[in-house]
Amino acid sequence: MADQGFDKDELVNTIHEGIEAVNAADSSAKLHEARNTYVGKDSLIAHVQHGLGSLPVDQRKEAGQLLGKLRAEFGRAYGARSEQIKAIEQQQRLRDEKVDVTLPVDRHPLGARHPLSKLMEDIQDFFVSMGWVISEGPEVDSEWFDFDSLNFGPDHPARQMQDTFYVKGDKAVDAAGFKGSNMVLRTQTSSDQVRGLIHRGVPLYMACTGRVYRTDELDATHTPVFHQCEALAVDKGLTMSDLKGTLDALAVAMFGPEAHTRLRPSYFPFTEPSAEMDLWFPDKKGGAGWIEWGGCGMVHPNVLRSAGLDPDEYTGFAFGVGVERALLLRHDINDMHDLVEGDVRFSQQFAMGE
Ligand code: DAH
Repeated sequence: MADQGFDKDELVNTIHEGIEAVNAADSSAKLHEARNTYVGKDSLIAHVQHGLGSLPVDQRKEAGQLLGKLRAEFGRAYGARSEQIKAIEQQQRLRDEKVDVTLPVDRHPLGARHPLSKLMEDIQDFFVSMGWVISEGPEVDSEWFDFDSLNFGPDHPARQMQDTFYVKGDKAVDAAGFKGSNMVLRTQTSSDQVRGLIHRGVPLYMACTGRVYRTDELDATHTPVFHQCEALAVDKGLTMSDLKGTLDALAVAMFGPEAHTRLRPSYFPFTEPSAEMDLWFPDKKGGAGWIEWGGCGMVHPNVLRSAGLDPDEYTGFAFGVGVERALLLRHDINDMHDLVEGDVRFSQQFAMGE
């Protein structure tokens, strides 16, 4: 109707078309699009509204009422459809995010054995295969077993070679009944030598694996708690060649057929002669080479005497190796932290979960 300044039918039809578009919309996005198109600021109804002021006064009211009615109609349709779409979209979300609570879950992920425990067992297996007994010994032990019985004199400087955690004063009575000896966290598995001789008697072929303690700070190459394997053989007629043969056999068992050992003269209070033992390690980074692995020697007569044995009758050999050192070498690990932190992902790399 030209006299109203706008085409009323066109406007009504457009709004009805808009209502259809609203009803046909199947997503919030389409619904918003329909609103923009039909009642947004560029829509026909917005333009008409804009021109209301220029209409003659008598037509203005009627046109205003029509606009209000059409907007309200559109608004109702929009509101109703919007509720429906919200419900549909909610359903859709629930379907998409559905969790099948009946599916089996892995509630107990498999752990993995620590490579150190595994290596300790490998070492023990080696000794068992030769018919030796395995001993553990106490980690809190008397100073007597850790030092005195092993021929460390009371003020022997060698006591300072190992920085010791002292646990208890002078009232302790240790397993062998020695009174008045301080208790210590054992600094070496050698502490089990004389206990083994006293309790098990001779001939003795014994390996002792376990934790030892020294007052070191934890860093890439040190830890205050580490593991050693001690070997002690006491019998009639044992010589250094028995020692060397045993060391080479252990090296082969741990590091493969090419591995072998060499001895360098050294000093330990509990062996005479004493030697440092180096290992020929075939797979070292940057090629094969010698690596220090432990100490060894023929059991000192005073150690045999500590156990009540006659050194003229019995001889023996002993050696001690570091288990961490063997593990670092065997698996090319270069930070001690990895060994002590207990992260299961570290252990899993060694595929020892079973
Ligand atoms: N107990 C020594 C240490 O912890 C290692 C050792 C050296 C053990 C010589 C032995 C040995 O049995 O004969 O450094």
